[in-house]
Amino acid sequence: MKAAIYQVPGGPHSVEEVTIDHPKRTEVRFKITACGVCHSDLLVWTGARAADFRPPMILGHEMAGIVEEVGPEVTMVKPGDHVIRGGSGVCGKCKWCMSGKYFRCVNRGRYTRREPHEPPTTWKGKFIGGIGGGPGGFAQAAIVDETALVKIDDDLPLDRMALIGCGVTTGLGAALTTAKIPPGATVAVFGAGGVGGSAIQGARIAGARQIIAVDVFDKKLEMAKKFGATDVINAKKTDPVEAIRELTDGGVEYSFEAIGNKKTQTQTVLCLAPRGTATFVGVGRDGDVLDDLPVYFITAAERIVRGHHLNYSSNAIDLGYIVSLYKRGLLNLDDMVSQHGSLADVDKAFHDMEGGEVVRTVLLPNG
Ligand SMILES: NC(=O)c1ccc[n+]([C@@H]2O[C@H](COP(=O)([O-])OP(=O)(O)OC[C@H]3O[C@@H](n4cnc5c(N)ncnc54)[C@H](O)[C@@H]3O)[C@@H](O)[C@H]2O)c1
Ligand SMILES: [Zn+2]
Ligand SMILES: [Zn+2]
Repeated sequence: MKAAIYQVPGGPHSVEEVTIDHPKRTEVRFKITACGVCHSDLLVWTGARAADFRPPMILGHEMAGIVEEVGPEVTMVKPGDHVIRGGSGVCGKCKWCMSGKYFRCVNRGRYTRREPHEPPTTWKGKFIGGIGGGPGGFAQAAIVDETALVKIDDDLPLDRMALIGCGVTTGLGAALTTAKIPPGATVAVFGAGGVGGSAIQGARIAGARQIIAVDVFDKKLEMAKKFGATDVINAKKTDPVEAIRELTDGGVEYSFEAIGNKKTQTQTVLCLAPRGTATFVGVGRDGDVLDDLPVYFITAAERIVRGHHLNYSSNAIDLGYIVSLYKRGLLNLDDMVSQHGSLADVDKAFHDMEGGEVVRTVLLPNG
């Protein structure tokens, strides 16, 4: 099969022939029909996460496709089923899984039953992996544990469903399961990309009264309005903290950082009302530390700063629920897919993301 290989930080991808095994035991091999390009892929490609992720790799982790072949112990899906890769697979046996908190599985993301000498995917005879605890989606197929997949109806558009594999679930999960925005709340979302746009939609679904989107591109802010933003701020033209305080008479109750930038992380805290909660969703460079968080500002008015991570929190959301929101017209995925591409378009997708051109590029590895 073909895959786009990340070989050098910041360097071009090359589409290469890669070998993929047959699924063993509880594994499933599925054809990747669509794979969204997430900023977390871009971060790895730039070398900003080199401590954990080194080339060569197959990036891409927002996948949807069709089951091709199943291992002998698979019971959850069968060939021909349409699926979203909804996470990294869980063991079902650790203390977290056994207490129903499978999203905290300590074996999540490992090939729980694969040994190092039997790699699922090889390039030039050597193991090649991806990010997000599994094989990369910028490829024509992948092998995952059956618990990583969510079966969906055959008539759902796989290019939109793919986004549920990361960005949409991360943003919705931040708003609904981590922050638990109550009806009537005031909200600010920094970054109106795939994750931030989904947090905005989560806030709308939760019934927030005011949703303020902050971005540096007017194009993104126009999209943010489609997703549910009631107010928009271009941070290149206006100080977002001052503007948010003014719009809300003193600050928002819930804020979200969906960029991964130290300056906007601090701003996400500074725009909070007393007792407000800032949720950090963005991922920055290895070793990022915030030095300029005003401690007494947090202490004196009992503000909360917390994190949200797809694998840890969002997977607590039933992905079937997210699919149902789309089917009922409550979740706008159609406007999140800005453009399609092929495996040869990974670099273009990254440049378009950096240039503010797209909410999401979705690659179609099998054409
Ligand atoms: N926590 C998780 O589980 C998780 C999951 C997926 C992605 N992420 C991270 O979330 C972040 C967002 O991912 P994405 O895929 O939505 O990225 P994206 O590129 O689609 O969106 C980021 C947005 O931030 C805007 N932006 C950039 N600088 C800004 C600034 N100074 N002020 C205001 N807006 C600014 C960009 O214009 C863009 O619209 C990344 O750091 C990514 O790695 C985290
Ligand atoms: Zn487990
Ligand atoms: Zn992602």
